[in-house]
This record gives sequence, structure tokens and C-alpha cells, in this order.
Amino acid sequence: MGLNSLEDVLHEQVKDLLSAEQQLVDALPKMSAAASAKELKHAIDEHLEETRGHVRRLEEVASKLGVQGQTTCKAMKGLIAEGEEIVKEGGDPAAKDAALIGAAQRVEHYEIAAYGTAKTLAAELDHGDAAKLFSETLDEESAADSLLTKIATGGLLRGGVNEKAAT
Ligand SMILES: [Fe+2]
Repeated sequence: MGLNSLEDVLHEQVKDLLSAEQQLVDALPKMSAAASAKELKHAIDEHLEETRGHVRRLEEVASKLGVQGQTTCKAMKGLIAEGEEIVKEGGDPAAKDAALIGAAQRVEHYEIAAYGTAKTLAAELDHGDAAKLFSETLDEESAADSLLTKIATGGLLRGGVNEKAAT
């Protein structure tokens, strides 16, 4: 179709994000099942619920803006493939949790970048409603990222990986 206007770019961003979030809804339960620390499992489960909400917001934006067609977010496919490699790994549970947090934070940062772009484009095009919805999701992605950092730095890694390494 070609990118002939900012509106076209925004539509592409919405389609890409919709694919990304839908892929995540399928992937997060596997990551939660693979996590050992209760707080990590809980954080992933909570974010799964939020992610379902992100899909709904994107569907609302897509219908408001008249976005046509579908696409596959290849970047999310790759990030999830890397996450699934960790899911299949054996070894120390705390080490695996640390690797899962790393994979999840890559996903969050990708989404933070994408929603930042979508929000800016929507605001530039005076789609206030869409910009607000992107902003709400962006805040939840940022909060999820911060929570993962908190879990990683809250003694989880020290109590598991390093303690074992010292013995
Ligand atoms: Fe999301």
C-alpha cells in the first residue's frame, strides 16, 4: 500500500502492535509456568491480564481510525522465540528466573518504544482519544518493566544464583 502519509504510518504501527500483543497473550502463560519465584509468577500473570486489555485498546483504536488488514510483528516473534528457549532450559531455578526477567524486559522495552511512537503520531494527527489509550498502555508497560527490575534487584538473584555459586 505504501506509506503516503503520517496516517499510513500510524495504521502500520497499530497493526504491528496488535500482532505483538496478541502473540504475547499466547506466550506469557508459558513464561509464568516456567518461573519459580512466586513474585515473578504473579507479576507475569498480572501483566497477562493487562496485555489482554492492551489488545482491547488497540482494537478500539483500530476501529476508530479505520485500520485495515493485519500484519505479523516479526520483532515480537523473535523476542518470544528467545523467551521460549529459556522456558525449555533446565538448571538452577533462580538462574532461570533471572533469564526470564531479562527476556520479559526486552519485550517491555520493545513495547515502550512502539507505544511511544504510536502516541506521538496520534497526538501529531490530533487523534486525542487514540493518544490517550496509547498513553494508558505505555504507563502499564513502564510499570511492568519497573516491577521486573524491582524483583530482579530485591534479592532474588543474590539469594539464588550467587549463593549457590559461593558454596
Ligand atoms: Fe502490552
